[in-house]
Amino acid sequence: MRLGYFVKGLPGHPLHPPLTDATIGIYTAATVFGVLSAIGLSERNTATAWWLTLVIGLIVTVPTALAGLIDWLGIEWGSPLWRTATAHMLSMVTATVFFLLAAIFGHGGYVDHAVGSGSLILTLIGFGMLTLGGWLGGSVVYVHGMRVLNLIHELARRAAAPMPTPEKKVAERTRA
Ligand code: HEM
Repeated sequence: MRLGYFVKGLPGHPLHPPLTDATIGIYTAATVFGVLSAIGLSERNTATAWWLTLVIGLIVTVPTALAGLIDWLGIEWGSPLWRTATAHMLSMVTATVFFLLAAIFGHGGYVDHAVGSGSLILTLIGFGMLTLGGWLGGSVVYVHGMRVLNLIHELARRAAAPMPTPEKKVAERTRA
């Protein structure tokens, strides 16, 4: 068992993608609560949920971004994959900054149980950047194929195992 597996995840089961699911889901919920509050649907409750969900999203972003950063550091500098992954990183960092600003400037709204228009706009911009970043993350994985083993003929029990054919062996097989 290599030490790197604890920070990067296992071959075929990288750590970053499942964390991104949680992060994107939480920020999406925050955005929905913000919009619901702004249109007056259970305004006080949804304003509280909006702010709390934003803060939870910001906390979950820390391990998510760190796992992504560790994978990003292993990419060949300046390669097309690196460019796409770097654009992904910049979009996600921008999204995080907007969500952070929404939480900071929206704290008064949380106390008063109302989402201000400025905080809502910051949340919506954050969500737009999150969507762009998610799209680019998809390009990194599904177009460039980063961390994808693509073992179409791997036995089902091996595919579900914690350790299917390690990435290094897959690379050797592809070169052969
Ligand atoms: C809010 C923070 C972030 C979110 C929500 C996020 C989201 C995503 C998503 C959705 C994917 C595609 C995964 C899939 O669909 O299977 C992805 C892949 C990736 N992201 Fe992020 N990302 C975040 C931050 C970062 C950061 C800061 C970096 C680099 C410094 C980064 C680097 C990567 C890399 C290298 C991949 C390729 C797959 C992998 O390494 O597991 N991400 N990300």
